[in-house]
Amino acid sequence: LKTQVRGISSAIDNIKSVGIIGSGQMGLGIAYVAANVTRLPVVLMDVNQAQNEKGLQFMDKLLAKDVAKNKITAEHAKITRELVSTTTQMSGLSDADFVIEAASENLNIKTAIFRDLDQICKPDSILATNTSSISITKIAAATKRAEQVIGMHFMNPVPVMKLVEIIPGLATSDAVLEQTRSLATAMGKTCTVVQDIPGFVANRLLMPYINEAFMLLECGAASAEDIDTTMKLGTNMPMGPLTLADFIGLDTCLAITKVLYENTGDSKYRSSVLLQKYVDAGWMGKKSGKGVYSY
Ligand code: CAA
Repeated sequence: LKTQVRGISSAIDNIKSVGIIGSGQMGLGIAYVAANVTRLPVVLMDVNQAQNEKGLQFMDKLLAKDVAKNKITAEHAKITRELVSTTTQMSGLSDADFVIEAASENLNIKTAIFRDLDQICKPDSILATNTSSISITKIAAATKRAEQVIGMHFMNPVPVMKLVEIIPGLATSDAVLEQTRSLATAMGKTCTVVQDIPGFVANRLLMPYINEAFMLLECGAASAEDIDTTMKLGTNMPMGPLTLADFIGLDTCLAITKVLYENTGDSKYRSSVLLQKYVDAGWMGKKSGKGVYSY
């Protein structure tokens, strides 16, 4: 199957399989693109088998929609599904040439994962993280292969959004940067290369914008709907900032804002009290059925 479906650039010829950690919205989206676009075998790992199954069901829905819209054939969709397998064990990633971690946005979780990956993966495997704000250099330091650790920041929803921010850590080699760029390109994405600074570029700009929208809501400047409509119609955004925050996940937005504040020490990144309150209440946005809006 592998040789039958591989029709991709020689630049990634040494990447024969991809491992992905986390079958949430980001991990699943990355798995979908790696299998459906790049035609690489993918092992999707999540400690929670129910989450793996939920992810696969969503993938089936995406494939069925693409087949119905004549974007791909039923045969293409069938092969995509055959290319994706799941595991609940980290050891299931031992054969992967390229691993992309898409677990929760938490430094302790990520460093623990990278420590384990370093033990389990082949010595020449590349270990990438989809972190949206945490220092790549810090994550890499949990391994003995810092030159093979890199940031590969996909945007949500991964199948639709065209960008991947690539973030080399302090020790990342140029060869690993080029391999990562080649893989992202083979996944149909446009890449930017960004230094390892808090929030990189996307979230350094996006999170203060979202945070400010919560501050406006908090001080009663306007209703949630009016804040969103102002930005959606006034600046031609596909979604207003509060809808987008619900879509990303309020816990993720808060975690990124805290990384910006803690790692720059600049009070302009202080998180909105209201955003914190929503997360404390378990209002995580679309994924929990309630955030700024109800779903
Ligand atoms: N997964 C896969 N595909 C999805 C999807 C999902 N979760 N949601 C929507 N799509 C697809 C739809 O299936 C549809 O595909 P087709 O064209 O093949 O039919 C296409 O996207 C358009 O969807 P809709 O017509 O339903 O809705 P829309 O036109 O309103 O678009 C949207 C939806 C693409 C999400 C659009 O609202 C949008 O671009 N929103 C902004 C998204 C954004 O800014 N993302 C970045 C967030 S920041 C981030 O990710 C970084 C971080 O670190 C926090």
